Amino acid sequence: MSTPMLEVRGADVYYGASQILFNLDLTVEKGQTMALLGRNGAGKSTTFKAIAGLVPPRRGEVRLSGETVSGRAPYRIARAGIGYVPEDRQVFPEHSVEDNLIVAMKRGRRGEAYWTLTRIYEVFPILAGMRTRHAGRLSGGEQQMLTIARALMGNPDVLLLDEPSEGLAPIIVQAIGGLIRTLRGMGVTILLAEQNMHFCLDIATHATVVDKGQVVYRAPVAELRGNTAITQRYLAV
Ligand SMILES: Nc1ncnc2c1ncn2[C@@H]1O[C@H](COP(=O)(O)OP(=O)(O)OP(=O)(O)O)[C@@H](O)[C@H]1O
Ligand SMILES: [Mg+2]
Repeated sequence: MSTPMLEVRGADVYYGASQILFNLDLTVEKGQTMALLGRNGAGKSTTFKAIAGLVPPRRGEVRLSGETVSGRAPYRIARAGIGYVPEDRQVFPEHSVEDNLIVAMKRGRRGEAYWTLTRIYEVFPILAGMRTRHAGRLSGGEQQMLTIARALMGNPDVLLLDEPSEGLAPIIVQAIGGLIRTLRGMGVTILLAEQNMHFCLDIATHATVVDKGQVVYRAPVAELRGNTAITQRYLAV
């Protein structure tokens, strides 16, 4: 098998004295859309922060295309190819949609320039129609799309989306889901944290379920769909 795009191996992660992740293993292959599922407080965001270098694992490692990146500063991990969209989806509110995108423009680690403003506007036509608008005036769903687009502007190898559906109206959640499916169809490698399993079933290719900071299940998403023992025990359904 080829080298995974993203690997977390045996990660123990702490906030101060309290251990949050226990020997966590997670693998995302190139082109997969991996759903990281788990209840409120299970450790999804902490896993993302560990990958992004904000809360480095005390033991274990994070590898990107086989290269160990854990232990590096967050900006270096970002440069190595991780595009991270945190839970709080912050935009620069006083700046235009286009400026929010331009500040994030950067080639990938091997010089890739696939994601340009032109391509972003093709894939996110809604943003094209608002390019001069202040980002602070966008709706929550539009801001979520902008933060995803902004992460892509850095031409990352893997895109980390932390609960992109959270707090959005059902119709907007559907639009975000459609967008992630489009990215998946384009071959983007995605790690998607979600409490909402139903949102993921139609979007993800694979699922990893965490509970109390440990992986309790991993499978192709079709298999999770039929596994009521897992969904009832570990996911709010
Ligand atoms: N900065 C922090 N300091 C101490 N404990 C924290 C901190 N952030 C999170 N925790 C704790 O770590 C555990 C995992 O939290 P985390 O945010 O990773 O969960 P989550 O799966 O993302 O949940 P949610 O679905 O609510 O976003 C929780 O028990 C939480 O209270
Ligand atoms: Mg979270």
